[in-house]
Amino acid sequence: MNTFGQLFRVTTFGESHGPAIGCVVDGCPPGIAIAPEDFRHDLDRRATGKSRHTSARHEADEVEILSGVYEGVSTGTPIALLVRNVDARSKDYAQIAEQFRPGHADYTYWHKYGIRDPRGGGRASARETTMRVAAGVIAKKWLAEKHGVRVQGYLAQIGEVVPHGYDLSVVEDNPFFWPDAAQVPALESYMDALRKSGDSVGARVDVVADGVPPGWGEPVYGKLDGELAAALMSINAVKGVEIGDGFAVVAQKGSEHRDHIAPDGFASNHAGGILGGISSGQQLRCSVAFKPTSSLRLPVDSLDIHGNTVEVVTTGRHDPCVGIRATPICEAMVALVLIDQALRHRAQCGDVGTVSPRVPSVAVEAGSELEPQAGGKR
Ligand SMILES: Cc1cc2nc3c(=O)[nH]c(=O)nc-3n(C[C@H](O)[C@H](O)[C@H](O)COP(=O)(O)O)c2cc1C
Repeated sequence: MNTFGQLFRVTTFGESHGPAIGCVVDGCPPGIAIAPEDFRHDLDRRATGKSRHTSARHEADEVEILSGVYEGVSTGTPIALLVRNVDARSKDYAQIAEQFRPGHADYTYWHKYGIRDPRGGGRASARETTMRVAAGVIAKKWLAEKHGVRVQGYLAQIGEVVPHGYDLSVVEDNPFFWPDAAQVPALESYMDALRKSGDSVGARVDVVADGVPPGWGEPVYGKLDGELAAALMSINAVKGVEIGDGFAVVAQKGSEHRDHIAPDGFASNHAGGILGGISSGQQLRCSVAFKPTSSLRLPVDSLDIHGNTVEVVTTGRHDPCVGIRATPICEAMVALVLIDQALRHRAQCGDVGTVSPRVPSVAVEAGSELEPQAGGKR
C-alpha cells in the first residue's frame, strides 16, 4: 500500500539506493503556485548531513516537477515529483545483505516478499519520507492560503531530556528543532557522547496546527484523530501517537479533562482540538514517539537468511536519533491529513455555510494551561 489519502491522494515510490524516489499527487486543487524552490526549505529541514547529529549521507534533494504544473501553477492533473539519489553507498550494506538487523525491517520484509533490497534498507528506509515532505509542502501551501492553517512541529523529548521552556520561535534556529534555546549546548554534548558510545536514543515530536476551522473530520471511520494516528504511525520508527493529552487522560477526572466552553474560547485543550472525530476549531495537538535507531556499530546476536547465528555489526551512515529529522515529516503527514479532510468536508458539507455560535480558538501563551508540556501532561 503506497497510496495515502482519498481526495488528495499521494503515491510514493522508490528505494533508498535506487536511481530515484518520487511521488504522484493526484486530486490537487488547480491554481496553486508551485515551483521547485518551494520544496527547498522543508526538504533541507528533513535532510541528512546538515549537522553532526544526523546521518552523514549528503543528498541534494533537488525536486523535478514532471507533470501537473503549467507556467508555475497546478492544473488539477496529477503532479509527479522526482528526486534523484546521488549519494548512495551500497557497499556499506554488502556485509549485512544476508543478515537480519534486530529492530529493523529486514526479517519481516524477507518473510513477506521472499526477497528484499538490502541496500540502505530499500523501501523500508526513511529516504521514502522525502516524498511525504515534498507532497506535504503542497498541502501546507494550500492550507495556509485557503484557510490560514499553520502546521508546526518541534522536538519535545530526546531520551530522558525534556525542554525546560517552550518558545516555538527558536525551533528553526537549532539542529534539534528544540523549543528551549538555552538547552541546545547541553543537547549537543549529550548527542556527541551518544554518538561516541555507538548507541542511539528515542525521541518525541510534537506537532500543533493552528487555524483549523471547526468541522473537519469524517465520523465514524474517517475520524480526524483516527486518520492522524494512522498517518503518523505510518512514519518509520514510530511506536506511539497521542492526540491532545493522549495517555495522560487515564489518570484524569472527567471534571478536569472536559474543556469548558465559554463565548471567548475553550478554557483548556485536553482534547487536542478534536471532538467526535471532528475538529473543534481549537489548536490541533499531536505527539509522536520515535524508537531509537536499530542500526548500530555495537554488535548484536541475530540470524542470517540461511538460519545461521551471526553477530551483526552495522557500519555505514546512520542517524543516532531518528526523531531529530522527523519533525518536518510529522508536519507533512498532519498537513496531508488536513488537506484531504478539508477537501472531503468541502465536497460533502460545502453548502452548510457558517454555523453559530463559533467559539474562538484561544491563543497559546507561555505558562498557560494550553502550553504544551512534555510527557503528555498539558
Ligand atoms: C527520519 C528517520 C531517519 C531514520 N534513519 C535511520 C537510520 O539511519 N538507520 C536505521 O537503522 N533506521 C533509521 N530509521 C528507522 C527505520 O527506517 C525503521 O526503524 C525501519 O524501517 C523499521 O521500521 P519500524 O521501525 O517502523 O518498525 C529512520 C527513521 C526516520 C523517521
